[in-house]
Amino acid sequence: MKALVLCGGAGTRLRPITHTRAKQLVPVANKPILFYGLEAIAEAGISEVGLVVGDTAAEVEAAVGDGSGFGLAVTYIRQEAPLGLAHAVLVARDFLGEDDFVMYLGDNLLEQDLQELVRRFQAERARSVAPRLGEGEPLLPAAQILLAHVEDPQRFGVAELDAAGRVVRLVEKPEVPPSDLALAGVYLFDSRIHEAVASIKPSARGELEITDAIQWLVDAGHIVLAEILKGWWIDTGKLTPLLEANRLLLEQIERRVEGHVEDSELEGRVIVEAGARVVRSHVRGPAIIGAGTEVSDSFVGPFSAIGPKCVIQHSEVEHSVLCGSSRVIDAGRIEDSLLGYDVEVTRSARRPRATRLMVGDHCQVDLS
Ligand code: TTP
Repeated sequence: MKALVLCGGAGTRLRPITHTRAKQLVPVANKPILFYGLEAIAEAGISEVGLVVGDTAAEVEAAVGDGSGFGLAVTYIRQEAPLGLAHAVLVARDFLGEDDFVMYLGDNLLEQDLQELVRRFQAERARSVAPRLGEGEPLLPAAQILLAHVEDPQRFGVAELDAAGRVVRLVEKPEVPPSDLALAGVYLFDSRIHEAVASIKPSARGELEITDAIQWLVDAGHIVLAEILKGWWIDTGKLTPLLEANRLLLEQIERRVEGHVEDSELEGRVIVEAGARVVRSHVRGPAIIGAGTEVSDSFVGPFSAIGPKCVIQHSEVEHSVLCGSSRVIDAGRIEDSLLGYDVEVTRSARRPRATRLMVGDHCQVDLS
């Protein structure tokens, strides 16, 4: 079993962050989103990983390297343009060979163990190859998809199942959804998917859709299994779900204080990394203060992940992600925010008093 992890894509919904960065490397709870997926893959006992990369290839390679830090052997596969999830399978043909594989979207986070999903696929396949007298050719499942109940299926790829729980139909963003079961970003395939991705045509949005490839398998008479997800699943491609993922992951941290804390109150599950300083401040967990960050005369509230080398002075930050090396000084209260790297949010004494901005394209500024 191999893994194919998708780290290409345009990331338009997370601009401006993705103008300069791979969205899979945005930190949640101070760790790049992608790393959670790679760790889950290693824990599932898979070691050969193909990483599909696009324009942000150099940055992804710098962060992941040869994968040995995760106990993985990573092969980089270049996708010239984000032409769809099924296109990513197409360009990975040589790497995947005839092996079964798990396809994992690099910006998705799952609470459930990957291992459990992989085992079920393997067990179902082992069961179906066992000879059954008088039953003719056994049917080997060709794929297994992961489904989650959602409130707004119109926004997702949606599955319709038969009474046995097998997939009969998949529709992308349906106006009238056949169920509330959305496709989550983890799929298991055997080598029959290669014929499927080579046979389908681009969709109206010009992409080779994985839903079309899976539908092709179903239409060709192959068995596609479905597994209903346990726990949470987040597609972090936009700000709100990204903050939600940060919140859920911070819920799991344990208190650990390795930095310098002076005249301050640390309430609950707070991590202060080595080299961080918290002075005359109040930090209410769950929250992380990254290495080399200085918090002074400030309040850092629940669900804040402050990355490394930030400065927070005379300000309040809550339910926010600061990626790193940012300065928040006399800024009042910042909530529900995502700050990239080297961002400056300050209040000057200059007259006339005014909001002075230098922000790039696709930024959002919400004034109090
Ligand atoms: P999406 O979030 O569906 O697409 P996107 O990254 O282009 O984002 P947006 O819609 O905001 O422009 O992609 C899911 C994951 O798959 C993500 O990690 C990027 C990756 N991907 C590829 O590697 N190749 C592709 O062709 C596409 C479409 C996505």
